[in-house]
Amino acid sequence: MDLKSQINLEKLPKHVAVIMDGNGRWAKQHGKPRVFGHRNGVTAVRDTTEAAAELGIEYLTLYAFSTENWNRPKLEVSALMRLLVETLNKEIQTLNKNNIRLKAIGDINKLPGRTHDALLQGIENTAKNDRMTLVLALNYSAKWELTEAARKLAKAAKEGTLDPDQLNEQHISNALATQGIPDPELLIRTSGESRISNFLLWQIAYAELYFTDIFWPDFGKENFYQAIIDFQRRERRFGKISEQLIP
Ligand code: FPP
Repeated sequence: MDLKSQINLEKLPKHVAVIMDGNGRWAKQHGKPRVFGHRNGVTAVRDTTEAAAELGIEYLTLYAFSTENWNRPKLEVSALMRLLVETLNKEIQTLNKNNIRLKAIGDINKLPGRTHDALLQGIENTAKNDRMTLVLALNYSAKWELTEAARKLAKAAKEGTLDPDQLNEQHISNALATQGIPDPELLIRTSGESRISNFLLWQIAYAELYFTDIFWPDFGKENFYQAIIDFQRRERRFGKISEQLIP
């Protein structure tokens, strides 16, 4: 039986987040420079986005560039930034055709001007779409996000609009870059690494983690379906015992 038909469409995760990893090692395996891996990673981005939208997943978040990625060789960083501009410009039409809205989380004001502009244009041009939201994490790290949230809340407390004794989890969720987006229920990481790498630390409190050895450029629709099937096989208890769960 094919994988897609094994998926229960009534029990889909609303939000899937992905740490796309292994582009560099994939390129090395093919005897090519790292940038070749990133270029082929775009195919996996397209396939995964399409698979998620076709299934009816509401939010897909992709970790495209972390705040730590600036430490990579200058040439790789500039190639990645160019690739983002190129991909955004090329794919906006496809996003519109498929009714997908683009969003970004991260310190995007620090991106190079052209990347920043292409991103804002993409966000603006797809703002009315409502089938699925594709969230790109760009110049993102969870510690940056939590620090910003703490700053916002501290300011509100200082200004008297927030009583520190009344502070609750919702205040924190609302102060994050993901404000208004449900927490991911499934987090996928490719390339055999079992780390979270400063990604959505608050939001993944109850997420199922799915690690696969496949390098990101090789990750296709079937691999995405497999991750969803695996998710659906797990029992999500949220601190309760099995018998307390409604069947
Ligand atoms: C991780 O592989 C990949 C990245 C840091 C970049 C991901 C970017 C893309 C797939 C291209 C553009 C994306 C979009 C959303 C348009 P790695 O370089 O860390 O691989 P390695 O661990 O094998 O070195």
